[in-house]
Amino acid sequence: MKILVTGGAGFIGSHLVRRLVVQGGHEVVNLDALKYSGNPANVKDLEGKASYRFVHGDIADQPLVERLLREHRIEGVINAAAETHVDRSILDPGSFARTDVVGTGVLIEESRRAGVLRFLQVSTDEVYGSVETGSSTEDDQLAPRSPYSASKAGGDLLALSYWTTFRFPVVVTRGSNTYGPNQYPEKFIPLFVTNAIDDQPLPLYGDGRQRRDWLAVEDHCAAIEHVFLQGEPGHVYNVGGGNERENITVAEQMLAYLNKPRNLIRFVHDRPGHDRRYAVDCGKVRQLGWKPTVPFDVGLRATVEWYRTNESWWRKIKSGEFRAYYEEMYGKRLLDAGGK
Ligand code: TYD
Repeated sequence: MKILVTGGAGFIGSHLVRRLVVQGGHEVVNLDALKYSGNPANVKDLEGKASYRFVHGDIADQPLVERLLREHRIEGVINAAAETHVDRSILDPGSFARTDVVGTGVLIEESRRAGVLRFLQVSTDEVYGSVETGSSTEDDQLAPRSPYSASKAGGDLLALSYWTTFRFPVVVTRGSNTYGPNQYPEKFIPLFVTNAIDDQPLPLYGDGRQRRDWLAVEDHCAAIEHVFLQGEPGHVYNVGGGNERENITVAEQMLAYLNKPRNLIRFVHDRPGHDRRYAVDCGKVRQLGWKPTVPFDVGLRATVEWYRTNESWWRKIKSGEFRAYYEEMYGKRLLDAGGK
């Protein structure tokens, strides 16, 4: 199949593109705007393959998207392009509305007009909002609480409206917190691992007892591919790893793997509107034939090992734009918590 993957130089996108090209035998056009977290190094190994093409551009660029879809006779589209970090959505909400809502709108409208046969929107379990007990099913009402999750909910619902209104064959995945190699070190796991390697403090928000369900990136990509090929049009599929953990437990586990002391953890001022817990019921996607395969202990250890042995990948990032972001996000928090 000829597939346009957007955001394919990002974390999940790059793993997905590799899977589709190398294992799936698909032809992939990778459209990525290469903003701060899009990184050509993530897909360097695919360069030169006949079934792979990289295009630098934005999903909100209507003439470009229109041209690409027709020029490459694209049959399927997977939208993995997004602004994804909750903390950045608090600093700059506008870019989230632009990419996650408006960008999705441009991409799906052009896909419909070009007669694309299949469109998958990569969404998130965060659209359900904070779930104190139990787990969200696909029919639950959406209750996003951050500019990030609200923007993702906008793109998610917009995509679904194309099935209701136009019978355009859309499927949506709502994945849980994803971890693995190549994740930009603003996110919890890579930030903590790379800080710990450098004996820097680990800024744990609030009481550290928030809970997330961790999903290995390879399992997440397998689910996206499976739903893309097998999912029923107009349907949503929750995707979770089945590894619900408190943040503090994950932080302690990473420190143990690195042989670093627990006193690197600093309890810092909480994130505004911090969602306490996410949890999804994955019965529907299991019914479709997907299940997670990576035990959390195995996946986390391998991820820690990847960051330990790929320092050049993340040191380049952490010495660039990231420094100003880190100072803005954590400078005062760490001072207030008793020193950097
Ligand atoms: P994150 O990776 O930002 O994902 P999300 O907020 O989308 O779930 O954060 C995962 C959890 O870790 C979340 O509860 C917030 C917490 N966290 C910290 O305690 N400190 C940090 O510096 C970061 C980035 C996250």
